[in-house]
Amino acid sequence: MAERRKFIAGNWKMHGLGSSVSEIGPIAAAADALDGVDVALCVPATLIHRAAKAAPTLSIGAQDCHQEDAGAHTGCISAAMLAEVGASLTIVGHSERRQDQHESDADIKAKAEAARAAGLSVILCCGETEAERDAGQAVSRVTDQIAASMPDGAAADWLTIAYEPIWAIGTGRVPGTDDVAEMHSAIRAKLRDLIGDEAEGIRILYGGSMNGGNAAELLAVGDVDGGLVGGASLSADKFVPIIEAAAKAS
Ligand code: 13P
Repeated sequence: MAERRKFIAGNWKMHGLGSSVSEIGPIAAAADALDGVDVALCVPATLIHRAAKAAPTLSIGAQDCHQEDAGAHTGCISAAMLAEVGASLTIVGHSERRQDQHESDADIKAKAEAARAAGLSVILCCGETEAERDAGQAVSRVTDQIAASMPDGAAADWLTIAYEPIWAIGTGRVPGTDDVAEMHSAIRAKLRDLIGDEAEGIRILYGGSMNGGNAAELLAVGDVDGGLVGGASLSADKFVPIIEAAAKAS
């Protein structure tokens, strides 16, 4: 099986002013000090430049990009613009954007391809609603999302998948480890169908109420290659223990 280094990515969502940049130094220091784990922080677009300057050794990411290079799209930001100010990756397809901005799987595929073309790595998100899980449709929903949003040329050196059950985001509720194992293994199988052997190297992150108390258990599950962390990534105090758990799990 391909070696997959654990990967912990923070997603600050719409949180953070300039004063929050002081959290980034200790996060970068922990990431530098620990072996066996990759760390990234996806901050609001307004902080990318400052974050990248404050922590040159840490991967700084965006949370979305537009699928076109340029054009009449008021308020949108292209992947090249993000790269120019210091982003090395971006999230695409987060459930909050699928819901709030009505993004489709086709949009997300196009965004991932645009990001790659601008030299960014990509974390592509998927996840089911609580109603879909209750109806026994979680695996089919998620694997359908993956199939419909898989970018052309997907490869392990730039693409990561993040499985985030929508009902677990920001709620303090986390699926049982059996459910996480079932889903991550189904995602790996779908990746194999879609892209063959390349699937073995692609990291699949778990996201949804991950914290310092549950990270070790989640990161020990088969095919869980890291975490995408919202609330607990906002402060170094809460985020560093997750990075440490990942270093231990590797
Ligand atoms: P929480 O860790 O706050 O549940 O958020 C998860 C998430 O949506 C990360 O993208």
